[in-house]
Amino acid sequence: MIKTVFSASGEPVFHLRAGDASYILAVFHGFLLHLYCGPAVSDDDPEYLLVRVNHDSVVPRPADTTESWFSLDIAPQECPVWGTGDYRPSALKLRYDGGGVTPGSSATALRYVSHEIVSGKPSVDRQPAVYANEDEADTLIVTAEDPSTGVTVRLYYTAMRDLPAVIRRTAVENTSSAALTVERIFSASLDFTGWQEPAELLHLWGTWGRERHMERTPLCHGSVSVSSRRGASSHHHNPFAALVSRRTTETSGPAVGLSLVYSGCFEIAADTDPFGSVRLMAGIEPTDFAWRLEHGETFVSPEAVLSVSGEGLGKMSRTFHRLYREHLCRGEWRDKPRPILINNWEATYFSFDSDKLAAIAREAAACGIDMLVMDDGWFGERSDDRSSLGDWFVNEKKLPGGLKPLTDRIRAMGLKFGIWFEPEMISPRSKLFEAHPDWALGTEGRPLSVARSQYVLDMTRADVRDWLFDALSGILSSADIDYVKWDFNRNLTEAASASLPKERQGEILHRYVLGLYDLLDRITAAFPHVLLEGCSSGGGRFDPAMLYYSPQFWTSDDTDAMERLDIQLGTSFVYPASSMSCHVSASPNHQTGRETSFVTRGHVAMGGAFGYELDLTKLTPEEKDLIRRQTAEYRRFAPLVNRGDLYRLILPSDTVNGRVGCCAAWEYVSPDRSEALVTFVVIRTTVHPVYFLRLEGLDPAGLYEDEETGARVRGDTLMRAGLNLTRTWRDGESVMIRLTRVE
Ligand code: GLA
Repeated sequence: MIKTVFSASGEPVFHLRAGDASYILAVFHGFLLHLYCGPAVSDDDPEYLLVRVNHDSVVPRPADTTESWFSLDIAPQECPVWGTGDYRPSALKLRYDGGGVTPGSSATALRYVSHEIVSGKPSVDRQPAVYANEDEADTLIVTAEDPSTGVTVRLYYTAMRDLPAVIRRTAVENTSSAALTVERIFSASLDFTGWQEPAELLHLWGTWGRERHMERTPLCHGSVSVSSRRGASSHHHNPFAALVSRRTTETSGPAVGLSLVYSGCFEIAADTDPFGSVRLMAGIEPTDFAWRLEHGETFVSPEAVLSVSGEGLGKMSRTFHRLYREHLCRGEWRDKPRPILINNWEATYFSFDSDKLAAIAREAAACGIDMLVMDDGWFGERSDDRSSLGDWFVNEKKLPGGLKPLTDRIRAMGLKFGIWFEPEMISPRSKLFEAHPDWALGTEGRPLSVARSQYVLDMTRADVRDWLFDALSGILSSADIDYVKWDFNRNLTEAASASLPKERQGEILHRYVLGLYDLLDRITAAFPHVLLEGCSSGGGRFDPAMLYYSPQFWTSDDTDAMERLDIQLGTSFVYPASSMSCHVSASPNHQTGRETSFVTRGHVAMGGAFGYELDLTKLTPEEKDLIRRQTAEYRRFAPLVNRGDLYRLILPSDTVNGRVGCCAAWEYVSPDRSEALVTFVVIRTTVHPVYFLRLEGLDPAGLYEDEETGARVRGDTLMRAGLNLTRTWRDGESVMIRLTRVE
């Protein structure tokens, strides 16, 4: 719901009610001011929220305001622009060719012109975006203008009706008389003036094999920011951060999560000014961004999603989960149970042929697995990672007769079939590179950096994308293929394209991402039945924009169950369990050498889209029997895991009875609270451990039965006193408990 009231000056104040959150912005003497974002408030007196302080006399004041106290340097703003008196980080910086102002200058002003409120959410051209129909959301579109050049800026705000989520984006239309360059554009920026307690930025850092570890950093006077300049959203930081108070926990305290629907270079920052106002912003990282706009052209930023909670981090995450599950993921696989798969990567790496795959598939079929995925190594001359990317034709030495005989064989065993691609890459040792050396992204006259022996294709070029579409379509139509793992194993360097003029080279990093979206759009439209799984050396591009195309993503190349606790629970701050691909792999683990029991590996991998990644032909009969039980169990649990509400009960970084890093626990609860699934993992045991695990989200009066033991306990006891898990535990042991409400 969006309510408009008018202040004493007759200007509009907009109150966006999104679920149980309020977002209030006001027009004040033409300026767009941010008044509030948090748990719902009433709006009888909008001006009450306006801070009128005469800070000092040296701050510049806009020439066209008569209010002696008003300065843009301290005003809480919705779209702070560069060059006219706000010295904090700006959300928008334009450089003008002329059009009424000094050519080459960059000062900009913005004044409100008009607004419009529509039901639903207008779609966005050529970019992934949240979708909502007319009963699910309302959108406010505020149009503002730079009075000196006539440039138009549109700010979009969508308030979800049933979720405390607001989705923002910024569009710049060059309605001036000359060309201009957008040098900085943030999708959302908002100033919190009333945040008086010690604040922190909660974010997800990582690297290969250690993705999305949660960290909380105290804010300081100045900026705290996370970013990627790698051409991809990256392993190193996820395009997400939350502004929280030091006292915020999983279940209490304020949390405003900001998540960018973008797969390229990004920045999310919290900048604190001397008066304690915090500017939270998210957008495209500006280091190498410069987008040329000719007269009449428009640039639309990626979307930023705000999840607002007054009741801690758990609620913030559950809002993201529902929004991304129901309003971002698309296609027929959005709601369908995902196949339990076996991937041959850690089983064989590059050494496989049809017979080896068939042998794995035979065991898989007997164990209740649904699909075989053939990973890297089936094409060109690829027997290691040093050649053939781009040569998307079957290596007949490994797969005699091509794909069809293999997929027929696999299907005859009752399994589905999936295949690996890394479409955006080109190996210097490949037929494709011999034919089209100019298709590699690069700067002429400068040697190209290599990573994993490969270059990146110039995805800004339509001819490259057309060729890729044909190559992928050819393979996907040549046999029965149900699934594609879309990998991306290096970051961008020497980013330049021979196909663009010099004044457009600053667009490359963003155009690359738009090119990727274009190809993904075409492939998903042409092959709607194919389940797409994203991957990037594990989870190096696990971001909301990729979920728009691929409802699941390979969470990490680190498949060690203990390591996965940090990775999966960190990922869960934003992303739903249904989007996290998690596999049981061999023990000792290939990445860490750690030994973990088969049961625990299963319990941890059942925290997401489940599968296996080990050589089934080498397992003992007991282990195969365990797989049979695990696949049957997962089938029963999958609806809860994939559609239930997630509660993080213990993070590995939490202190439990004076000890850090000793256990982890989480819980899924069905929306009607009739069922819950609790997973508890002991990382490092102690003598005589006493554990009462306090559950959440249950019906306090409900009587819950433990499926395994038959024990019956009331919801209030389970939530307040806790689930009694006191017994002897060994390192790495775990339990999964299913509770059903019986009365
Ligand atoms: C990446 C992926 C792995 C595997 C290899 C194949 O590292 O993350 O899962 O597919 O590539 O080369």
